[in-house]
Amino acid sequence: MKIVLNENKVFFNNGKSVEEIHPFWLRERVDGEEFLDKGTQQRLFDPSTMNGEIIIKKAEIKNGFLEVDFNDGVKSKLDINKLKSEFSNKDTVIKSIPKKKWDSTLKNIKNFEYKEGFFESKEMYDLLISFYEFGFVVIKNVPTENNYIVKFANSIGSVRRTNFGEHFNVKSKSNPNDLAYTTLHLSPHTDNPYRNPVPCIQLLHCIENEVKGGFSTLVDGYTVTENLKKDNPEFYKILSEVKVRFKFTDKSVMLEDWSELIHLDDNKEFKQVRFSPRLDYVPMLEKNKLDLYYKARKKLSDLYNSEKNRIEFKLAPKDLMMMDNYRVLHGRTKFDPDEGKRFLQGCYIDFDSTEGKLRHLKRKFKL
Ligand SMILES: [Fe+2]
Repeated sequence: MKIVLNENKVFFNNGKSVEEIHPFWLRERVDGEEFLDKGTQQRLFDPSTMNGEIIIKKAEIKNGFLEVDFNDGVKSKLDINKLKSEFSNKDTVIKSIPKKKWDSTLKNIKNFEYKEGFFESKEMYDLLISFYEFGFVVIKNVPTENNYIVKFANSIGSVRRTNFGEHFNVKSKSNPNDLAYTTLHLSPHTDNPYRNPVPCIQLLHCIENEVKGGFSTLVDGYTVTENLKKDNPEFYKILSEVKVRFKFTDKSVMLEDWSELIHLDDNKEFKQVRFSPRLDYVPMLEKNKLDLYYKARKKLSDLYNSEKNRIEFKLAPKDLMMMDNYRVLHGRTKFDPDEGKRFLQGCYIDFDSTEGKLRHLKRKFKL
């Protein structure tokens, strides 16, 4: 990628083609101190109110800077590397981390260790990279006093409060409003598919775990649905096209949202899975279509529940697990409350928290 000049016009050459850069695009980026607040990096002028007839009167390249005089009297000196970083229309930090597919054969995944200064450390950067690669991460030795999970969440970004509160306590109780608060086996699911938007990331912190059962289970929705696309394309197609209704009701709220079980982005690539068979309602469709839909959903459920796709491990006190709720399904094996205490705390954060932190640490450590 190179910037070249020709008769007061600025071009970028990406090795394959040469395109002119719109003069207004450059004018929007002038960063002298009367145009850009140095502290906030926010503009001090409003380009949307400016005359669009901006012309370059003079342009030169000197020592890595593009020096431009515009016809409105503004002279600027633009850092060429900074301009080049904007030529990609994609997010170059998060999207450049490749997702690693995994199933039950996943071994030796790195656990992280909480310590003083953790949230501003290189270790935190590595943790976030691992999180985006695998969709989950486990941090050991996280303090458990005074609902520390909320402080943990707020040290990465901001806790996402819901009607379950800022955080929730996962222990069996009488008259539960969710099966999470029982001792039953929980098959793989994503949390809160009925919310708009669905919470992006769940944190689960083990406070006590004295029972023999109560293992945590995880399944990679990305691996499973990519395999389904290859092996059963017609099932993949219908599951990524039909929107179903998810709902949650208790005495103070009625939540509802509609989505495909496999939600794709604008490029028809994986974006999000939702799966919670206790809460989904398929719309009334013609019988043949529903026939196919039910077969497809059964297949997807079989894959999510297959041992081949599941990892299973026991969280110890002070272990904190962070899961991408758009990618990874979680569950637990049943346990006997007579064997002892099992107490986990949970809360949510959204992707702005992890993305903002990751970009900040990348800048801080010049990575
Ligand atoms: Fe859950």
